[in-house]
Amino acid sequence: MAIIKTVGVVGAGLMGSGIAQVVAQAGYSVAVREVEQRFLDKGVKAIDGQLQRAVEKGRMSAEEKVNLLGRIGWTLSLDDLKGADLIIEAIVEDLPLKQELYRALDRLCAPSAIFVSNTSSLTIMAMASVTGRADRFAGLHFFNPVPVMKLVEVIRTIRTSEETYRTVYEFATSLGKEPVTVRDNCGFIVNRLLVPYLLDAIRALEAGVATVSDIDKAMTLGCNHPMGPFTLADFVGLDTTYFIANVMFEEYRERRYAPPPLLRKMVMAGYHGRKTGRGFYDYSGPTPKVTDLGL
Ligand code: CAA
Ligand code: NAD
Repeated sequence: MAIIKTVGVVGAGLMGSGIAQVVAQAGYSVAVREVEQRFLDKGVKAIDGQLQRAVEKGRMSAEEKVNLLGRIGWTLSLDDLKGADLIIEAIVEDLPLKQELYRALDRLCAPSAIFVSNTSSLTIMAMASVTGRADRFAGLHFFNPVPVMKLVEVIRTIRTSEETYRTVYEFATSLGKEPVTVRDNCGFIVNRLLVPYLLDAIRALEAGVATVSDIDKAMTLGCNHPMGPFTLADFVGLDTTYFIANVMFEEYRERRYAPPPLLRKMVMAGYHGRKTGRGFYDYSGPTPKVTDLGL
């Protein structure tokens, strides 16, 4: 098995910041790359907030927090990821953008470095194929919020070597996560089942079945889900949900993956969910309020 000491994380959004946190928490050195300073600042703030909460709750000492933050380097330059043994990519769900990034990383990183993508829906092979290291390429799919969710899907393509697979699986275990092994099929296990459910909730809303709050209430109280489908879609990000639905519909051509028109309109309107302050709910006040969508 390959030895992983330093990890490069690309993207410091919802997922990248959570991934950087758990990787540093497990003792690895991490370099996080973003495209703009304001996104880096957001990532730093997200991790700092999480750790501060842990300190206040007595789960971590102030010294541990400083040490953990000291293991994370923040950069706008891809070059700073040159020495990484493992690259975890968590940029937007857009295949051409990811491929462009992987071509650059392939030129930059040591031939021994392993690449993994945190994609929700894209086929891993579509990214591995633009590099000269398809044998050292796998999927490592974390769940939101990364510091809390135990599951990680480890995706093995038809080209992933046994050594790479074992290294990535062991790495996931070293983070305190529970890995499952999945074949390189669009949507893997969880999103294959979860995405049609989220899209169906939007279709139920479009059909006038019930209100946003009553559909959420029904699924939390009726099925004991921690979040109803609209709260969860806002939490994942409506832009990300829309990108994922498009990828899955393109792949399977099944109606259950087709993005509903309401979702598309909300994304075009800039309602991206919790991260932009508004989605199916408005998060500007002390408690979320249902957004008036004119339905
Ligand atoms: N980041 C880090 N930690 C967080 C967090 C966040 N955004 N939100 C909550 N937490 C932590 C809190 O610190 C708290 O920990 P402690 O009790 O130890 O302090 C714990 O989670 C519980 O938080 P709360 O009591 O505030 O809230 P809660 O009980 O409602 O739990 C939740 C919050 C864990 C997010 C829960 O609502 C939940 O599990 N929701 C469903 C999440 C889910 O389904 N995620 C998968 C999304 S799909 C995906 O990720 C795949 C994809 O490709 C799209
Ligand atoms: P996000 O929009 O919160 O963050 C994406 C970040 O990537 C942005 O900050 C953007 O500036 C940055 N970025 C774009 N191009 C970049 C580049 N070339 N180099 C560095 N940074 C770049 O999105 P997210 O929710 O964190 O999703 C990221 C990935 O994780 C996607 O592939 C998504 O499908 C997947 N994912 C998302 C969730 C979720 O619940 N949101 C769960 C699991 C997996």
